[in-house]
Amino acid sequence: MRELEISNQELSALADEALDLAKTYWASLEERPAYPSTSGKQTTELFSRPWLEEGRGQDVLQDFKSIAEHVRPSTGRFFGYVVGSGEPIGALGELLAAVLNQNVTSWRSAPAATSIEHAVIGWLAEAVGCAGFTGSLCGGGSAANLMALAMAREAKAPANETGARLPCVVYASEQVHMSIPKAVALLGIGRKNLRLIPVDGEFRMQVDALQAAIAADREAGNTPIAIVATVGTIVSGAIDPMHEIADIARSEGLWLHVDGAYGVLAALALPEKLRGLSSADSLSLDAHKWLYQPLDCGCLLHRHPQIARATFSHSDDYVRTLSEDPTEAFAFFEESFELSRRFRALKVWMSLQYHGRRAFREAIARDLHHAQLLAETIALHPELELLAPVPLSAVCFRHRAKDNEAILRGVIARGRVYLSNATINGQFALRACFVNHRTSTADVRTIVSEVIVVADELNR
Ligand SMILES: Cc1ncc(COP(=O)(O)O)c(C=O)c1O
Repeated sequence: MRELEISNQELSALADEALDLAKTYWASLEERPAYPSTSGKQTTELFSRPWLEEGRGQDVLQDFKSIAEHVRPSTGRFFGYVVGSGEPIGALGELLAAVLNQNVTSWRSAPAATSIEHAVIGWLAEAVGCAGFTGSLCGGGSAANLMALAMAREAKAPANETGARLPCVVYASEQVHMSIPKAVALLGIGRKNLRLIPVDGEFRMQVDALQAAIAADREAGNTPIAIVATVGTIVSGAIDPMHEIADIARSEGLWLHVDGAYGVLAALALPEKLRGLSSADSLSLDAHKWLYQPLDCGCLLHRHPQIARATFSHSDDYVRTLSEDPTEAFAFFEESFELSRRFRALKVWMSLQYHGRRAFREAIARDLHHAQLLAETIALHPELELLAPVPLSAVCFRHRAKDNEAILRGVIARGRVYLSNATINGQFALRACFVNHRTSTADVRTIVSEVIVVADELNR
């Protein structure tokens, strides 16, 4: 047998063993701590090792058990950041996608996978009220935001051929996600040309201040190109006023990008609240957040395939498509940033069809309910204080009298729930975010009881 080949018999035994490991892990999720008790020293000692000359064979699968002891498990009691729960049908889809090993550069190199990605893009666009938008899947919201702003720049101040004619200006609220300043820097627009517009008491962009900032830039001879509106800010889930911002973008001739990486899929459960997204030129969302898919699965949606091509098309002859048929001639690399791309769409295709639309809508509605339940429970405890409104599923709060940083450390160390932190109006906040189909009502109540237990133990 040639090197790297394994017999069908051995492969079958290995595959069974790998699936057994996966099944045992899934079955054990709720008994696992919300965060492992581990340290950098421990994980380095366990996992830094030489690559040996001779293979370890089947034994290598046994590593999974110790790896699983030192990962952040996808329990329903992990409430940090915006971490989706990794729905198992999606995980099986990932396995099968890797088995097929498609390179989804274009229809020519991945026929079925390209059509499936187009179908999934259509479902996602329709789910957020943007039927007819096109786009592509990518690594996450950061990649989608970068591609969107690259398109905005090429549409409003073309730079691909001759380089940038500075200064172009982009507008976003003070609460914008860090991926936007990063994109602005990478695109050569410059972070100083990102205007961070003040927010109101509910952490939404102030449209008067936006209008004034655009006027001031025009007066100064700068070139405004784009507004980024956020639907679901990373800290408190605030939703920028879409309609007013869309009106300004239209009257000023600016590109409107919606960063919906965290929040936009709430449109499945709250279509009224999130109406008007289709007035955007582009929109990013993360199926690995509030669509419960295993990492990674970001998505850029837009309604400008021509501009996408103007921005990203730069083809060598060796990838030239040989068909006149538009479906068969289609290439993602002409309309997005990457060439080699994996078959991300298969997990979404399988998971969304396995469960059906209602199951996802209801899971999102339950997350929204859990956030309200936590806010109500906080209100019943006078020693606790809510620090921001709860328009979606992120809840920021604090203990009025104790050291909240010490509380957070204590809560994490106990391992029953995991919270993350944020700063709200200069105050250290405990933050819980619900994007997890495994979370129960009891888990939500545990958040407050854990915070109170740890706070009571402090300074004893
Ligand atoms: C509002 C917002 N935008 C962008 C991102 C970046 O997404 P990703 O981590 O998938 O790159 C996040 C991540 O939490 C986010 O909440």
